[in-house]
Amino acid sequence: FIAMAIKIKTPEEIELIRKSCELLSNTLAEVAKILKAGATGVEMDKFAEEYIKSHGGHPSFKGYNRYPASLCISMNDEVVHGIPKTDVFKDGDIISLDCGVYMNGYHGDMAYTFGIGNVRADILQLMRVTKEALYLGIEQAVAGKRTGDIGFVIQDYCERQHPYKCVRELVGHGVGKTLHEDPQVPNYGRKGDGQKLPENCVIAIEPMINLGKRDVYTKRDNWTIATQDGSPSAHFEHTVVVKPGKAEILSTFEGIEKAVAENGDLVKI
Ligand code: MF3
Ligand code: CO
Repeated sequence: FIAMAIKIKTPEEIELIRKSCELLSNTLAEVAKILKAGATGVEMDKFAEEYIKSHGGHPSFKGYNRYPASLCISMNDEVVHGIPKTDVFKDGDIISLDCGVYMNGYHGDMAYTFGIGNVRADILQLMRVTKEALYLGIEQAVAGKRTGDIGFVIQDYCERQHPYKCVRELVGHGVGKTLHEDPQVPNYGRKGDGQKLPENCVIAIEPMINLGKRDVYTKRDNWTIATQDGSPSAHFEHTVVVKPGKAEILSTFEGIEKAVAENGDLVKI
Protein backbone atom coordinates (compact mmCIF):
# COMPACT_ATOMS: atom_id res chain seq x y z
CA PHE A 1 0.00 0.00 0.00
CA ILE A 2 1.41 3.35 -1.03
CA ALA A 3 -0.01 6.35 0.81
CA MET A 4 -0.81 8.90 -1.89
CA ALA A 5 -0.80 12.62 -1.37
CA ILE A 6 -3.80 14.08 0.39
CA LYS A 7 -4.97 17.20 -1.43
CA ILE A 8 -5.23 20.33 0.68
CA LYS A 9 -8.06 22.59 -0.50
CA THR A 10 -7.90 26.37 -0.84
CA PRO A 11 -10.63 28.47 0.81
CA GLU A 12 -12.13 28.99 -2.68
CA GLU A 13 -12.23 25.24 -3.31
CA ILE A 14 -13.85 24.62 0.09
CA GLU A 15 -16.57 27.16 -0.76
CA LEU A 16 -17.29 25.29 -4.01
CA ILE A 17 -17.50 21.94 -2.20
CA ARG A 18 -19.80 23.64 0.34
CA LYS A 19 -22.10 24.72 -2.52
CA SER A 20 -22.20 21.17 -3.90
CA CYS A 21 -22.98 19.86 -0.41
CA GLU A 22 -25.77 22.44 0.02
CA LEU A 23 -27.50 21.34 -3.17
CA LEU A 24 -26.92 17.72 -2.14
CA SER A 25 -28.42 18.25 1.34
CA ASN A 26 -31.42 20.02 -0.19
CA THR A 27 -31.85 17.20 -2.70
CA LEU A 28 -32.04 14.49 -0.02
CA ALA A 29 -34.37 16.69 2.06
CA GLU A 30 -36.72 17.00 -0.94
CA VAL A 31 -36.58 13.25 -1.54
CA ALA A 32 -37.37 12.72 2.17
CA LYS A 33 -40.61 14.66 1.64
CA ILE A 34 -41.88 12.19 -0.99
CA LEU A 35 -40.42 8.99 0.46
CA LYS A 36 -43.22 6.69 1.61
CA ALA A 37 -44.57 3.14 1.57
CA GLY A 38 -45.71 2.45 -2.00
CA ALA A 39 -43.09 4.70 -3.62
CA THR A 40 -40.28 3.17 -5.67
CA GLY A 41 -36.54 3.66 -5.91
CA VAL A 42 -36.80 4.53 -9.58
CA GLU A 43 -39.21 7.37 -8.75
CA MET A 44 -36.89 8.71 -6.02
CA ASP A 45 -33.91 8.52 -8.39
CA LYS A 46 -35.70 10.35 -11.20
CA PHE A 47 -36.80 13.07 -8.77
CA ALA A 48 -33.27 13.48 -7.35
CA GLU A 49 -31.68 13.67 -10.79
CA GLU A 50 -34.14 16.31 -12.00
CA TYR A 51 -33.76 18.33 -8.79
CA ILE A 52 -29.97 18.33 -9.02
CA LYS A 53 -29.93 19.23 -12.73
CA SER A 54 -32.55 21.96 -12.39
CA HIS A 55 -30.39 23.59 -9.70
CA GLY A 56 -27.26 23.64 -11.83
CA GLY A 57 -25.58 20.46 -10.57
CA HIS A 58 -24.77 17.08 -12.00
CA PRO A 59 -25.38 13.77 -10.21
CA SER A 60 -21.88 12.57 -9.28
CA PHE A 61 -22.71 8.87 -9.29
CA LYS A 62 -24.40 8.65 -12.70
CA GLY A 63 -21.82 7.26 -15.10
CA TYR A 64 -19.20 6.81 -12.37
CA ASN A 65 -17.66 3.44 -13.30
CA ARG A 66 -20.83 3.09 -15.42
CA TYR A 67 -23.11 3.27 -12.36
CA PRO A 68 -26.57 3.79 -13.92
CA ALA A 69 -28.34 6.13 -11.44
CA SER A 70 -28.11 9.33 -9.39
CA LEU A 71 -28.94 7.73 -6.04
CA CYS A 72 -27.68 4.56 -4.43
CA ILE A 73 -30.74 3.04 -2.73
CA SER A 74 -29.85 0.21 -0.37
CA MET A 75 -32.70 -1.49 1.50
CA ASN A 76 -32.68 -3.63 4.65
CA ASP A 77 -29.86 -6.22 4.23
CA GLU A 78 -28.28 -4.14 1.45
CA VAL A 79 -25.31 -2.13 2.71
CA VAL A 80 -24.50 0.29 -0.12
CA HIS A 81 -24.52 0.76 -3.91
CA GLY A 82 -28.08 -0.50 -4.41
CA ILE A 83 -29.39 0.36 -7.89
CA PRO A 84 -32.84 2.03 -7.78
CA LYS A 85 -35.59 -0.49 -8.58
CA THR A 86 -39.29 -0.49 -9.43
CA ASP A 87 -40.12 -2.50 -6.27
CA VAL A 88 -42.32 -0.55 -3.85
CA PHE A 89 -41.07 0.42 -0.39
CA LYS A 90 -42.95 -1.36 2.38
CA ASP A 91 -43.82 -0.67 6.00
CA GLY A 92 -40.87 -1.67 8.18
CA ASP A 93 -38.21 -1.22 5.47
CA ILE A 94 -35.05 0.78 6.12
CA ILE A 95 -33.70 2.62 3.11
CA SER A 96 -30.27 4.14 2.76
CA LEU A 97 -30.12 6.98 0.23
CA ASP A 98 -26.60 7.86 -0.85
CA CYS A 99 -26.07 10.73 -3.29
CA GLY A 100 -23.35 12.90 -4.78
CA VAL A 101 -23.53 16.32 -6.44
CA TYR A 102 -20.91 17.69 -8.83
CA MET A 103 -21.04 21.45 -9.44
CA ASN A 104 -18.42 24.02 -10.52
CA GLY A 105 -15.77 21.31 -10.65
CA TYR A 106 -16.25 19.87 -7.15
CA HIS A 107 -18.17 16.97 -5.59
CA GLY A 108 -20.11 16.58 -2.36
CA ASP A 109 -21.09 13.16 -0.96
CA MET A 110 -23.61 12.18 1.72
CA ALA A 111 -25.94 9.40 2.86
CA TYR A 112 -28.82 8.92 5.31
CA THR A 113 -30.79 5.84 6.34
CA PHE A 114 -34.59 6.27 6.58
CA GLY A 115 -37.16 4.04 8.24
CA ILE A 116 -40.62 3.50 6.72
CA GLY A 117 -43.48 3.17 9.22
CA ASN A 118 -43.17 0.49 11.89
CA VAL A 119 -39.47 -0.36 11.93
CA ARG A 120 -38.34 -3.01 14.42
CA ALA A 121 -36.92 -1.43 17.60
CA ASP A 122 -33.58 -3.22 17.29
CA ILE A 123 -33.18 -1.90 13.73
CA LEU A 124 -34.03 1.67 14.83
CA GLN A 125 -31.32 1.36 17.46
CA LEU A 126 -28.84 0.21 14.78
CA MET A 127 -29.70 3.33 12.75
CA ARG A 128 -29.25 5.62 15.76
CA VAL A 129 -25.92 4.10 16.72
CA THR A 130 -24.64 4.32 13.13
CA LYS A 131 -25.51 8.02 12.99
CA GLU A 132 -23.88 8.61 16.39
CA ALA A 133 -20.79 6.72 15.19
CA LEU A 134 -20.56 9.09 12.21
CA TYR A 135 -20.51 12.12 14.53
CA LEU A 136 -17.94 10.44 16.81
CA GLY A 137 -15.79 9.86 13.72
CA ILE A 138 -16.19 13.51 12.72
CA GLU A 139 -14.91 14.55 16.19
CA GLN A 140 -11.64 12.81 15.28
CA ALA A 141 -11.35 14.55 11.90
CA VAL A 142 -9.01 17.23 13.21
CA ALA A 143 -5.67 18.35 11.83
CA GLY A 144 -2.79 16.15 12.96
CA LYS A 145 -4.93 13.09 13.78
CA ARG A 146 -4.87 10.02 11.55
CA THR A 147 -7.48 8.08 9.64
CA GLY A 148 -7.06 5.25 12.16
CA ASP A 149 -8.27 7.57 14.93
CA ILE A 150 -11.56 7.96 13.05
CA GLY A 151 -11.85 4.22 12.36
CA PHE A 152 -11.03 3.38 15.95
CA VAL A 153 -13.82 5.43 17.53
CA ILE A 154 -16.39 4.18 15.02
CA GLN A 155 -15.44 0.55 15.59
CA ASP A 156 -15.14 1.00 19.35
CA TYR A 157 -18.61 2.55 19.60
CA CYS A 158 -20.35 0.06 17.30
CA GLU A 159 -18.57 -3.18 18.17
CA ARG A 160 -17.52 -2.75 21.80
CA GLN A 161 -20.19 -0.44 23.21
CA HIS A 162 -22.91 -2.02 21.04
CA PRO A 163 -23.38 -5.47 19.51
CA TYR A 164 -22.95 -4.39 15.89
CA LYS A 165 -20.31 -4.99 13.23
CA CYS A 166 -18.51 -2.51 10.96
CA VAL A 167 -18.21 -3.34 7.27
CA ARG A 168 -14.53 -3.33 6.29
CA GLU A 169 -14.64 -3.76 2.51
CA LEU A 170 -15.85 -0.19 1.89
CA VAL A 171 -14.35 2.98 3.28
CA GLY A 172 -14.74 6.74 3.51
CA HIS A 173 -12.50 8.86 1.31
CA GLY A 174 -11.18 12.24 0.29
CA VAL A 175 -13.60 14.37 -1.78
CA GLY A 176 -12.83 17.14 -4.26
CA LYS A 177 -12.36 17.38 -8.02
CA THR A 178 -12.96 13.64 -8.01
CA LEU A 179 -15.53 11.76 -5.93
CA HIS A 180 -12.95 9.45 -4.38
CA GLU A 181 -9.55 10.85 -3.45
CA ASP A 182 -6.96 9.96 -0.88
CA PRO A 183 -7.06 9.24 1.99
CA GLN A 184 -9.06 6.07 2.50
CA VAL A 185 -11.04 6.37 5.75
CA PRO A 186 -11.85 2.89 7.14
CA ASN A 187 -14.62 2.40 9.71
CA TYR A 188 -12.36 0.26 11.89
CA GLY A 189 -8.77 0.45 12.99
CA ARG A 190 -6.31 1.46 15.62
CA LYS A 191 -5.50 4.86 17.10
CA GLY A 192 -2.47 6.42 15.45
CA ASP A 193 -2.65 4.22 12.32
CA GLY A 194 -3.17 5.44 8.77
CA GLN A 195 -2.48 8.71 7.02
CA LYS A 196 -2.14 11.97 8.94
CA LEU A 197 -4.95 14.45 8.24
CA PRO A 198 -3.74 17.91 7.20
CA GLU A 199 -5.74 21.08 7.89
CA ASN A 200 -8.13 21.89 5.01
CA CYS A 201 -8.31 18.44 3.51
CA VAL A 202 -11.90 17.37 2.74
CA ILE A 203 -13.07 13.85 3.54
CA ALA A 204 -16.28 11.84 3.49
CA ILE A 205 -16.81 9.72 6.60
CA GLU A 206 -19.36 6.96 6.10
CA PRO A 207 -19.89 4.17 8.63
CA MET A 208 -21.72 1.11 7.24
CA ILE A 209 -22.86 -0.91 10.24
CA ASN A 210 -24.54 -4.34 10.33
CA LEU A 211 -26.93 -5.71 12.94
CA GLY A 212 -25.41 -9.18 12.45
CA LYS A 213 -22.02 -10.32 11.15
CA ARG A 214 -19.69 -8.00 9.26
CA ASP A 215 -19.35 -10.13 6.09
CA VAL A 216 -20.78 -8.79 2.82
CA TYR A 217 -21.13 -9.99 -0.76
CA THR A 218 -21.88 -8.39 -4.14
CA LYS A 219 -25.27 -9.22 -5.66
CA ARG A 220 -25.75 -10.47 -9.24
CA ASP A 221 -26.29 -6.91 -10.52
CA ASN A 222 -22.54 -6.43 -9.86
CA TRP A 223 -23.21 -3.31 -7.75
CA THR A 224 -25.34 -3.97 -4.69
CA ILE A 225 -23.37 -4.89 -1.59
CA ALA A 226 -25.43 -6.87 0.96
CA THR A 227 -24.83 -8.64 4.26
CA GLN A 228 -24.04 -12.33 3.95
CA ASP A 229 -26.24 -13.26 6.91
CA GLY A 230 -29.18 -11.17 5.67
CA SER A 231 -29.07 -8.87 8.70
CA PRO A 232 -30.07 -5.20 8.26
CA SER A 233 -27.38 -2.59 7.65
CA ALA A 234 -27.37 1.20 8.18
CA HIS A 235 -25.26 3.90 6.49
CA PHE A 236 -24.77 7.61 7.24
CA GLU A 237 -22.26 9.90 5.52
CA HIS A 238 -21.10 13.52 5.73
CA THR A 239 -18.51 15.50 3.79
CA VAL A 240 -16.30 17.44 6.24
CA VAL A 241 -13.31 19.80 6.23
CA VAL A 242 -10.47 18.87 8.57
CA LYS A 243 -9.64 21.81 10.84
CA PRO A 244 -7.57 22.28 14.00
CA GLY A 245 -9.73 21.47 17.02
CA LYS A 246 -13.02 20.72 15.25
CA ALA A 247 -14.01 19.60 11.75
CA GLU A 248 -16.45 21.66 9.73
CA ILE A 249 -19.35 19.62 8.37
CA LEU A 250 -20.27 20.76 4.83
CA SER A 251 -23.34 18.57 4.32
CA THR A 252 -26.28 18.74 6.73
CA PHE A 253 -29.04 16.43 7.97
CA GLU A 254 -31.15 19.41 9.15
CA GLY A 255 -33.43 19.58 6.12
CA ILE A 256 -33.72 15.80 5.97
CA GLU A 257 -34.69 15.55 9.63
CA LYS A 258 -37.24 18.36 9.33
CA ALA A 259 -38.76 16.48 6.37
CA VAL A 260 -38.75 13.20 8.32
CA ALA A 261 -40.53 14.88 11.26
CA GLU A 262 -43.22 16.22 8.90
CA ASN A 263 -43.58 13.03 6.84
CA GLY A 264 -46.07 10.73 8.57
CA ASP A 265 -44.78 7.73 6.59
CA LEU A 266 -41.25 7.97 7.99
CA VAL A 267 -40.04 7.20 11.47
CA LYS A 268 -37.81 9.56 13.46
CA ILE A 269 -34.67 7.97 14.78
N1 MF3 B 1 -21.60 7.06 -2.50
C1 MF3 B 1 -20.52 6.19 -2.61
C2 MF3 B 1 -19.49 6.70 -1.66
O1 MF3 B 1 -19.92 7.23 -0.69
C3 MF3 B 1 -20.03 6.09 -3.99
C4 MF3 B 1 -21.03 5.58 -4.90
S1 MF3 B 1 -20.23 4.79 -6.12
C5 MF3 B 1 -21.29 4.88 -7.39
O2 MF3 B 1 -18.33 6.67 -1.81
F1 MF3 B 1 -20.72 4.28 -8.37
F2 MF3 B 1 -22.41 4.33 -7.05
F3 MF3 B 1 -21.47 6.09 -7.72
CO1 CO C 1 -18.68 8.40 -0.06
